[in-house]
Amino acid sequence: MGSARPSLLCVYAFAVLSTLPFPADADFALLNVQGNYSIQSYCVMYNHMLSHLPTDLHTAHMYQLQNLSWLELCEPGDIPARGFPNTMLLVKRGKCTFARKAELAVHGGAHGLLVVSHDPLVTPSGSDLMPDNMSIPLALIRQQDVINMSQLGKGSLWAALVAMPKSTFNWSVLIIFALAVGTVVLGGYWSGLCDVEMKKRKCKQEDGEGKLDNKEKEDTLDISTSTAVIFVLMLSTILVLLYFFYDYLVYVLIVLFCLASAMGLYKCLLPLVDRLPLKTCIISTTSLPFMHKLPQPQLIVLAAACLSLAATWFVFRHDDRWAWALQDLLGMAFCLNMIQAVRIPNFKGCLILLSFLFIYDVFFVFITPFLTKSGESIMTQIATRPSNSTSKEMIPLLFKIPTLHLSSPTLCQGFTFSMLGFGDVGLPAPKIYFIFSVISYAVGLMLTFVALMLMQMGQPALLYIVPCMLLTCTIVACIRRELSMFWSNTKFTACAQH
Ligand SMILES: *[C@@H]1O[C@H](CO)[C@@H](O)[C@H](O)[C@H]1NC(C)=O
Ligand SMILES: *[C@@H]1O[C@H](CO)[C@@H](O)[C@H](O)[C@H]1NC(C)=O
Ligand SMILES: *[C@@H]1O[C@H](CO)[C@@H](O)[C@H](O)[C@H]1NC(C)=O
Ligand SMILES: *[C@@H]1O[C@H](CO)[C@@H](O)[C@H](O)[C@H]1NC(C)=O
Repeated sequence: MGSARPSLLCVYAFAVLSTLPFPADADFALLNVQGNYSIQSYCVMYNHMLSHLPTDLHTAHMYQLQNLSWLELCEPGDIPARGFPNTMLLVKRGKCTFARKAELAVHGGAHGLLVVSHDPLVTPSGSDLMPDNMSIPLALIRQQDVINMSQLGKGSLWAALVAMPKSTFNWSVLIIFALAVGTVVLGGYWSGLCDVEMKKRKCKQEDGEGKLDNKEKEDTLDISTSTAVIFVLMLSTILVLLYFFYDYLVYVLIVLFCLASAMGLYKCLLPLVDRLPLKTCIISTTSLPFMHKLPQPQLIVLAAACLSLAATWFVFRHDDRWAWALQDLLGMAFCLNMIQAVRIPNFKGCLILLSFLFIYDVFFVFITPFLTKSGESIMTQIATRPSNSTSKEMIPLLFKIPTLHLSSPTLCQGFTFSMLGFGDVGLPAPKIYFIFSVISYAVGLMLTFVALMLMQMGQPALLYIVPCMLLTCTIVACIRRELSMFWSNTKFTACAQH
């Protein structure tokens, strides 16, 4: 394996672990409730894969509401003798699955089930919740709304469920796209700068001007097939472990993310701070007993700033209003650093690594649904938290952009996010045809989002990105008759050219 440094590979494995693009799909619906005093709409959350709701209030059927919000409805004995014919039921969340509640509700003759939730709303889903046996609409409603409802009138309340009109275009996907392509361009540019710098040094050295520092040796990864196999096996193992022990390992990922992204941010900002004219304030080192060589104070300040930014994210990571922005910033620094650090010197290495990542992605998105109990892919479950998990934590290895719900700004204040795994951003790209790599990357990512919208299911982004990049680079190399040089490029040989 030679120069393929294991520690770098490990951090890189962590960076490309999650590769799922996820458009925010706000499964919000409106519950129109009518009492004999007034009418009011409430925001509920349903699952469009399970229940098909009318989009027009006039075609929606009204049912009498039956308030059992103190009851979980988990036992057949919970159903009253006369059942609940022609009603929409309100039951308490918890104690048993949504499927169990729905089964009993149908058994009692109900025409709709509203599960009253104390916690924030989620899209109802579960391994035993299938469209085939879900004959009534199921939605989650906030507890405070159920209390509010009682003011609508004395006597019985009537209710109808209406799906919210979807906004025509999901802008958050566009922002995610810009974020990803911007990161790839910046990362590639940075790594290009480093290459030029290194080439200069190497050439100087060849001219007999001084020696290369040990630290500044060639900083690239020679990827052989065996390295790539080990790398992808490692990646798969981490992902499967995460799937089975999500509730514990998610904390490991969160802490690692904090450390790695703080480090990434530090490295990104270091060149900028180095350029600041701060060199004048240097603390005298001789007065301190143990530290003869004190690091420059501005670097300590920078390190502290980066760490505290990561710590801020850690503390406020559940605050949906703004924690995502910090996560994106830290994630961008992390990915930039990975793109810069994992430099693969030739096309052969890129081809091998990208091919194995391609197989990894397709396997975990398209093949694992046949292996899991719930029929959902492992990658999707990791990205959106496995349904059997009791943890409230989400894995942080994703770019997140909230969707603006323009259709209902005040009623449904829940946040939904479009997401893109870091694994789709921190890819190794052939550096020679940088412009072509970036363009083909953007095209591949765009195809992914189109596929997402057309198929309405999780897509392995690398399925589109990898062929786009590899094909484009091969074609360009063929046209320029540079294929053999490109294949095993040793870019430090051509000193005379620069
Ligand atoms: C619905 O179907 C799934 C699979 O077919 C099954 O596992 C589940 O128990 C069913 N749920 C109910 C409530 O019947
Ligand atoms: C339903 O019952 C709960 C308590 O059992 C009560 O707080 C709430 O106001 C009731 N809501 C309606 C609409 O009757
Ligand atoms: C009930 O909801 C309406 C509209 O959202 C709001 O104006 C009102 O203050 C709420 N009442 C209570 C008691 O929460
Ligand atoms: C609403 O219904 C209650 C009982 O069913 C009745 O006492 C009340 O007068 C009604 N209010 C209006 C505004 O119709």
